[in-house]
Amino acid sequence: MEKLFLGCDHAGFELKEVILRYLATLSWPYQDLGCDCAETSVHYPHYAHKVVQAVLDNPGSRGILICGTGLGMSMAANRFPGIRAALCQELYTARMSRLHNDANILVMGGRIVGSGLAREIVHVWLTTPFEGGRHQERLNLLDPDTVQKEKIS
Ligand code: RB5
Repeated sequence: MEKLFLGCDHAGFELKEVILRYLATLSWPYQDLGCDCAETSVHYPHYAHKVVQAVLDNPGSRGILICGTGLGMSMAANRFPGIRAALCQELYTARMSRLHNDANILVMGGRIVGSGLAREIVHVWLTTPFEGGRHQERLNLLDPDTVQKEKIS
């Protein structure tokens, strides 16, 4: 069970609470990096950055980010090399984001996904392995340094 780091903004707080309770029932190890309430408006990049830093500092760990739509958190997290954040609002994408993309951060929209579906998305995302092989070759090409070298040769 890889350690999970969770973050949200005010619009994702209630769904994050649902997911924290679900992780507790699974005895899944996690750390909640905020925010801490739905009433105070906060800036989603701050919480995306906390989770990104924690995932990069702890090899093998993964993260979950939740804002209103999931869009802001995805944009913020995917600016960092080594982060593969997948916005998943249904089960097929959640499964494929692990099988083909080795997503290390799951993003959801707290104003989009209901609590029951969100629990299922988290379960599928946590338990689906990466297939590797040709998909690893493609992930290697996400690194700008790798792309640059390919252009030169
Ligand atoms: C907050 O109102 C909202 O803009 C934010 O949670 C997120 O949806 C941004 O992408």
